[in-house]
Amino acid sequence: MPASSAVDHSRHTSHARLASWVEQVAELTKPDDIVWCDGSDAEYAQLAELLVAKGTFTKLDEAKRPGSYLALSDPDDVARVEKQTYICSESERDAGPTNNWRDPAEMRETLDGVFAGAMRGRTMYVVPFIMGPAGSDKSYVGVELTDSPYVVASMRIMTRMGSVALDQLGADGAFVPCVHSVGAPLEDAADDVAWPCNADTKYIVHFPETREIWSYGSGYGGNALLGKKCFALRIASVMARDEGWLAEHMLILKLTSPAGAVKHLAAAFPSACGKTNLAMLEPTLPGWTVETVGDDIAWMKFDAQGQLRAINPEAGFFGVAPGTSYETNRNAMRAIERNTVFTNVALADGDVWWEGMTATPPAHAIDWRGREWTPESGTPSSHPNARFAVPASQAPCIADSWEDPDGVVIDAIILGGRRASVVPLVRESLGWEHGVFMGATMSSEQTAAAEGAVGALRFDPFAMLPFCGYHVADYFAHWLSMGERAGATLPRLFYVNWFRKDEQGSFMWPGFGENSRVLEWIVRRCDGEVEAVETPLGLLARPEDLDTTGLDLDPATLERLLSVDLAAVAKELPQVRTYLEGIDHLPAPVMAQLELLEAAVASA
Ligand code: OXD
Ligand code: MN
Repeated sequence: MPASSAVDHSRHTSHARLASWVEQVAELTKPDDIVWCDGSDAEYAQLAELLVAKGTFTKLDEAKRPGSYLALSDPDDVARVEKQTYICSESERDAGPTNNWRDPAEMRETLDGVFAGAMRGRTMYVVPFIMGPAGSDKSYVGVELTDSPYVVASMRIMTRMGSVALDQLGADGAFVPCVHSVGAPLEDAADDVAWPCNADTKYIVHFPETREIWSYGSGYGGNALLGKKCFALRIASVMARDEGWLAEHMLILKLTSPAGAVKHLAAAFPSACGKTNLAMLEPTLPGWTVETVGDDIAWMKFDAQGQLRAINPEAGFFGVAPGTSYETNRNAMRAIERNTVFTNVALADGDVWWEGMTATPPAHAIDWRGREWTPESGTPSSHPNARFAVPASQAPCIADSWEDPDGVVIDAIILGGRRASVVPLVRESLGWEHGVFMGATMSSEQTAAAEGAVGALRFDPFAMLPFCGYHVADYFAHWLSMGERAGATLPRLFYVNWFRKDEQGSFMWPGFGENSRVLEWIVRRCDGEVEAVETPLGLLARPEDLDTTGLDLDPATLERLLSVDLAAVAKELPQVRTYLEGIDHLPAPVMAQLELLEAAVASA
């Protein structure tokens, strides 16, 4: 008897549309069993036990890392697969130049094919989840149907999952349907592997009009935990466009001055620019504190008073492990001391290890591919995209306001990229349109690690390149429209660059906790306490206004960090022009900002 008819969904939900959708997906994917998740501790313990029995999880030494597990993925399933990520809007134009578009009707046919019988031999878990604090007017519900217990355990950490979400949904609430299969049906349960996935076929598919997500073939991170990049960014960016709010790839931090004045800042950086580190920063400036509201995604809506309020839609941190240490991010290290799921790091003496975690590597470990490893092995012990998943509440730096259903008022938005040259340490935009131009042209220098010419700029507008679910030009227009909102108190916009290098290739700015000095300047600008130097690139900090007390930084370096070389700017503007000209339907004010800058550097 097919499992679907054996499950009485009404025991779990009074939501008829949800129950019939679950039934429909079960009919297509043919799981052996259906389990509705309640999100309880007992359920998590059972899942963890099952994952250990299947070989997906290794339990870490309870004395060293209580309640924690290590998973090693298939070596070919280690990161987001952007080439197999699709936006299936009704019109091709709406996907724009930064997305892979497929005709929705054709894609539905393809998905019907790949998902037919995809869950055979497996259990389909029904995972209701809330993105955002329960009861918040800024939260939205999703339901993920998945045949991966690893995904269920991770969703329990990363979202508010289970009964709490069903309660919020009630009998007829809206939800984003998310279907996920590892794409590895089983004839016989004994044939299963520790990390099932599909080597040949992967589809990460979004239908923006119907707000649906279908993901096939991968069990990893952003491909499989569908609340995160798929829902909270790609689908939510479309919802935000339609409903007049912002769904952004931004951390949110709470900054308190020695006098006790509180500001909240949101910040967008491309992947691998230290967002989690900035969100959890320990200020070196005496008396200042940073607390974390979120480290990856911000949903922001204007309130009745016209203030922009942000929530973190996630409930956990899914951070990159390599490079994380008690020196670089003590708060993250303390958060992951317990109840953490690690993926693709090394196992050393019952505990985890990765490059950069300690100065001295373990003499012996099992690497992320399950092989014997020693420091002489000549290969990294951990995959560069190895992760920890940990409840946000465990971070010692978590802000008291992090689950405030009203969200926190955003005073400033920081943009940034990784630039070895040209771009100053900090500047404020010349206004909203200029700020949108700064966001639209956010860029990092190409390194030898990626394809393309070294030194060429890689543009990542608002750090949303892989995450904006619609035409990027319409996205810029949406940002511009936010600035025209009647009665709104707009946050100020800043652009930072921690990564400037000198001629010897050394970083000119120490970064990490010292970045609090830049945050202090930003706060002082917001409070109207400091003047700034107007340049065509924006409003620059005067050297005397940046608190460098106790910092080993010579005045000439500081001067360089805080100034712009217009001749160097002029040299890279043709790249900016080519990039912007490549975006059809670009809003005129964005091009106008480029033209102003071109004219200013030409006459300098
Ligand atoms: C992430 C990313 O995983 O931005 O957060 O890639
Ligand atoms: Mn991210």
